Amino acid sequence: MSVREEQQNYTQIMREYTEGKGLKYNIVTYGCQMNVHDSEKLAGMLLEMGYEEAQTLEEADVILFNTCCVRQNAEQRVYGNVGALRSYKRANPNLIIGVCGCMMQQKEVAGDIIKKFPFVDLVFGTHNLHHFPRLLYEAINSGHTIVEVLDEEGRIVEGIPARRTSKVSAYVTIMYGCNNFCTYCIVPYVRGRERSRASRDILDEIRELADKGCKEVTLLGQNVNSYGKDLGNGYLFPDLLRDVNRIENIERIRFVTSHPKDLSPDLIDAMTECEKVCEHIHLPLQAGSNEILRKMNRQYTREDYLKLVDRLRQRIPDIAISTDLIVGFPGETEEDFQDTLDMVEKIQYDSAFTFIYSPRRGTPAARMQEQLDEDVKKERLNRLIELQNDISKSKNQQYMGKVVEVLVEGISKNNPKMLSSRTRTNKLVHFEGGSEIIGEFVKVKITEPKAWTLEGYMI
Ligand code: SAH
Ligand code: SF4
Ligand code: F3S
Repeated sequence: MSVREEQQNYTQIMREYTEGKGLKYNIVTYGCQMNVHDSEKLAGMLLEMGYEEAQTLEEADVILFNTCCVRQNAEQRVYGNVGALRSYKRANPNLIIGVCGCMMQQKEVAGDIIKKFPFVDLVFGTHNLHHFPRLLYEAINSGHTIVEVLDEEGRIVEGIPARRTSKVSAYVTIMYGCNNFCTYCIVPYVRGRERSRASRDILDEIRELADKGCKEVTLLGQNVNSYGKDLGNGYLFPDLLRDVNRIENIERIRFVTSHPKDLSPDLIDAMTECEKVCEHIHLPLQAGSNEILRKMNRQYTREDYLKLVDRLRQRIPDIAISTDLIVGFPGETEEDFQDTLDMVEKIQYDSAFTFIYSPRRGTPAARMQEQLDEDVKKERLNRLIELQNDISKSKNQQYMGKVVEVLVEGISKNNPKMLSSRTRTNKLVHFEGGSEIIGEFVKVKITEPKAWTLEGYMI
């Protein structure tokens, strides 16, 4: 039986089971956009099986935790929150609790979860997401915990339905896995090697999204710049961008994440040529010191990175640049850290995600001598955040009085009277307006630049 046949088979059996019962699901997601999109696929499969979305954990009959293990604190939150489900299970013995995602790809962790929380019904990893209908069926019918974590990534399975959170803007995975093995990072171990989807499948999916009214796509991969290299047919990421650019009714194209070592001149050409590709790039620097970059196995120097930023700004003058930064990598001296501050000062990022280095079991950096004290790491993080906050604020100040074109994404989470929208440069803009313009492009005059967002009125 093919995977798709198995899926359809169990989906049908589950439909008969859920029929007339009004059963509901709730998915709690941790981690990156990849995981967010995996959760959209899990939701898609649950809807096909006849479940409805629950607004709260209390009313759910199936609760899934889609986990992340990129840093220790992400894992700790999962332990805490899964533990808290014990009382839900007591109140509703028919409740099915599943834990899946990157954290489960680590054998010891999956074992630990089952031992600590015997009330968990189902544990599965990232490589067998597409077997979810069968796994759920088995969890409901077997009476014991179902555990299925595959070591091998296997082939890409197409055709999994996704229930996307937004109708306006969609995530589209173009490749899975990572080959880079940055020494601090666990992702290659839990997501496997790079596998690119066939361009035909990607383009078909985006055309379908466009037909349903989607205006913006974000192409996802741990390192989108190496898209296609594993397929060996000469069709690479810039080719894909050019083809997506030709799809009617898609107005904006974004992509994450770009590894600086693979950002080719042809990609910059494609970004310049393709009018739908937004003027924003997320380009993780990680650290400013060449010694630390070497120990991280990032395969570029600060000089390479600065050149790249120069080239991007020359070709795309108003491009916004964001980044990821790690402080407290093993052996990082105060001088190394000063190099990071210096790069941040020089480059003037629009925004940055800043992280404290977190040792991950099985990665080379976790075994390095000279792990730094938490106090030192925290103190460096605070200094870095302070510097970047000042830069982000002054970048936003430059928008004062300007008129920007935004895509309206939805109602603001914090204020139901306000709409939430984005500029092509990925700035979040809030303004007053009605829900009828969600999905439209409008012009907004900025009157109040804040630290993280811009506010204004529609003109
Ligand atoms: N593939 C992407 C991002 C992967 S994870 C890339 O290469 O940029 C997202 C971010 O988490 C990384 O960019 C890095 O800054 C951070 N990160 C990864 N492992 C980490 C660790 N062990 N400790 C702290 N931060 C980490
Ligand atoms: Fe992790 Fe590096 Fe791969 Fe990004 S490129 S996922 S940081 S190993
Ligand atoms: Fe986390 Fe997995 Fe993404 S470890 S950052 S959810 S790929």
